[in-house]
Order: sequence, then structure tokens, then C-alpha cells
Amino acid sequence: MYYIGIDIGTSSVKVLAIDEAGKIVKTVSREYPISYPFPLWSEQNPNDWWEQSKLALKDILEYIDKDKVKSIGFSGQMHGLVILDNEDNVIRPAILWNDQRTESECRFLNNDIGKDKLLSWTANIALNGFTAPKVLWVKQNEPDNFKKIAKICLPKDYIAYKLSGEFATDYSDASGTLYLDVKNKKWSDDMMKILDIDENKLPKLYDSFSAIGTIKKDIATELGLPAEVKIVIGGGDQAVAAVGGGIVENHHCSISLGTSGAVFATSDEFVMEDEGKLHVFCDARGKYHVMGVTLSAAASLKWYVEDFLKASSYDEVLTEVEKSDINENVYYLPYLSGERTPHNDPDAKATFLGMTVRHERKDMTRALLEGVCYSLRDCYELMHEVGINPKEIIINGGGAKNDFWCQMLADVLHTKIKKLDINEGPALGAAILASVGDGKYSSVSNACQDIIKTTKEFTPDEVSSKIYSEKYKKYKSLYPMLKDFFSSL
Ligand code: XUL
Repeated sequence: MYYIGIDIGTSSVKVLAIDEAGKIVKTVSREYPISYPFPLWSEQNPNDWWEQSKLALKDILEYIDKDKVKSIGFSGQMHGLVILDNEDNVIRPAILWNDQRTESECRFLNNDIGKDKLLSWTANIALNGFTAPKVLWVKQNEPDNFKKIAKICLPKDYIAYKLSGEFATDYSDASGTLYLDVKNKKWSDDMMKILDIDENKLPKLYDSFSAIGTIKKDIATELGLPAEVKIVIGGGDQAVAAVGGGIVENHHCSISLGTSGAVFATSDEFVMEDEGKLHVFCDARGKYHVMGVTLSAAASLKWYVEDFLKASSYDEVLTEVEKSDINENVYYLPYLSGERTPHNDPDAKATFLGMTVRHERKDMTRALLEGVCYSLRDCYELMHEVGINPKEIIINGGGAKNDFWCQMLADVLHTKIKKLDINEGPALGAAILASVGDGKYSSVSNACQDIIKTTKEFTPDEVSSKIYSEKYKKYKSLYPMLKDFFSSL
């Protein structure tokens, strides 16, 4: 038997198949473009996701016995606004999670409606990336498009709809819209009123491991799949990556050191963070999670190595940093694209501080790696404030490949860090959800106990942890001093 996971990522779709033992048999991916038509805008064509997903499915089906495919599950980039007319045509390009055009809509929601009301209705406040401000933006700036809206959904939901004909979403992805009442797991009447949308335009809500139906006949024929293949709705990429990393017990924590960095922790009970600095979302197990996001984690390193240094390789830069001195006081704020947690400030900028003539490239590199760790500590400390004190953290994402960075993070957070033996994140999580949705496992936790294994551990070094704690205090003092300067630029 095979279970397939489809992850609708930002730069590509990744499709992965596991067998009945949970072993990955094949992974394929296909890219699609992003367009940035105006400053701050970031858009994609949902039909590109669909065409490339179909091609990637065809690719993977070359490697496995099609008749043994039981179910297909999803993960997807969150928050993206996909709008369809009453003939199911895409009305305009999807407005993505990293699009920053909605500043005035967020101001309206957070200030005129008020953060307190938003927190009580949805457990979150308005951030530029979330879906609700995008709906308001379309209403205000493209009224003709707004009038045509018959359906509103998220990126992975569009692909699930194309495959199954069922208009569905799941609680984890829906949490990032800012029109889900996260605590009570239903669409928020108050938010629908503010956005001027009816519930009949929104998808039906499911748990991430639910089968929403079977594959449409014509698509099954086109792909050569059995008609009874189940479509399992899956979830938002962070919640599904947590499944792929085995973060499925109460107060388990993971950090994804990807383009952005996310500190993620599960909670069996609903928890609230008073100021809305942490995202409070439903998870893919049917419970809750909290999350803080630093926008430029591995993206900081990529910018530094590729665009700034134009170095010949990452290795060259990352090998010499191991010889740098932890006691040097060079600091880096990683706000290359503004910052989400904890500042929620699109105007924040990146900066290096504290250099003298003695400092070399290796000191700047260390400062950059440390700065990303400190921004993750900002998120981690907020977790402690809501009573989540993890004993260990599972690390994933591209940055996790570098052991020096993993050890630094263990020291900065003063918590043991474990690496996964397989780092396939959301696509693996989506395939696991597909297997649960087909009934192979009785719960997401049971599936993960069977499938997910860790390899390496990084135990915090007490001496380094103390030094980093002092340096973190200095790091923390920088943003308040520079905030007004950043917004004047
Ligand atoms: C989560 C978030 C990102 C996107 C793209 O809040 O913005 O994880 O889903 O990966």
C-alpha cells in the first residue's frame, strides 16, 4: 500500500510517497514562479500549483504501483488568498503569506476594530500575511473582483478541491485566516460580518487527518489511479511539518530553521497569549499549537553568503566561523523583511552592530548565526510565558544541516536539540496524515511513534549558555533603540 503527501510550497510542490511501513519510497518536486508585480506584493497563479501538482503526481506514479495507492494528503503554504467565481474560475492571482500590501487593513483591524476583540474572536491579531486583511484589501481595491467571489480558500484547499470536488479546509490552516474562532473551531460570525462574507463562501471545516471524499473520476482516469483513492485534507505547512517531525505529544516543541524560522509547540489545552504576539492555532492532531515566527532565519544566511559576500560556497564561510570567538560583541538583527514575532513590524530592518577594526568575516558570520538564534529565543521565551517549557526541541529545515548552528541554538535556548534522521517535514507529514485518514493508524500520534526517528543530539554547554544569555540581553535592547529609526527609513 502507498500513501501520498503533497506539499504546496512557496517555490515548488513536493510530492512524497510512503509505503505501509512508513518508509519513504520516492520524493519528487516541481517548481512554479512567484511574481512581485509591485513593491511588497507577492503572488502566484493557483493554476500553476494545479498543473505542477498533477505533473509531480504523474512523476511519482512512475515509481510505484498505482493500484496500491490508498490516499493522498496535503500540506500547504498558509494564509494565501485564493478566490473563485461561481464557475470555479480563479478570479485573480493568489495573494501569498509573504505579501506585505495590507498595512492599512491591518491598522484598521488592530486599531479601529481593536486587538482585544480580534483576540477574543479568533485568538490572534491581524498580521500583514494573514488572510482576513487580504479579503479587505480586495474589497477596497478591487470591488469588481470582490463582487464576483463565490468561494474563498487557502492554497492546499484549492488543490484538494480540484482533486476531489469537495470544498474543504482544516482547522490548522483555517487558523491562519483570522476568521476562524480557533478556540471553538468554527468560522467567526463577527469576522465574517467585518469582511462582508457569508459562511456559504467558505470551505467546510475538518480535522487535518479527515478524508473529505475520494478522487474525482476524470482525474483518477487521467492519472491512472483507482477510483477509491481517498483525499485527506491535511493542514497548514507548519502544523503538518510538526507531524513530519513527530511533534505530536502535549508541549512537544520544534524549530524549523528554514527560510523563515518557526518555534512551534503543541498544547492539548487551548492557551492564550495576552498581546497576540504568538500565533495560537489549531494543530494537525485535533488539538492546539502556539507558534512564533522570525521571518529571515536561513534567509539571512542565504542573503549574507550569496548576495552580500558572494562567497564561492557555504562551506567556506561556515567552516571558518567555527574558529570565531564567542566572547566577541558583534550583533546582527535579522530583520531583512521586517519581523513578525515578537515585534510585528514590517518596517524593522536588518543590521550589524559592534564591529571594530579587529573584526573579521568570521566574527560577522558568527554574529549573523547568533542573531537568528536570539530571534528564535524571543519566540521561545513567549512559549515559557504561556506555560510551555519543553525538555527538548526537534530541529528541522535547511539550516539544521549545519551542526555548529544546531549546537549554538541548543546553547542559546539552553535546551537539548535533536535532529531528525529524515528531514522531509511537511511532505512526509502530509503522507502520514493520508495514512491516518485511510485508517492505517488510529491517531496521528500512533502513526508518528511508528514512523519518526531522531539521530543526533546537541546538549547545551553550560559555559556557552551563560555567555549567550548575557549577549541575548544586549541583543534584546537593540530593537527598542532602533525602532523609530527603522520606520523613518
Ligand atoms: C506560517 C507561515 C509560513 C507559510 C509559508 O504562519 O507564514 O509557514 O505558511 O511557508
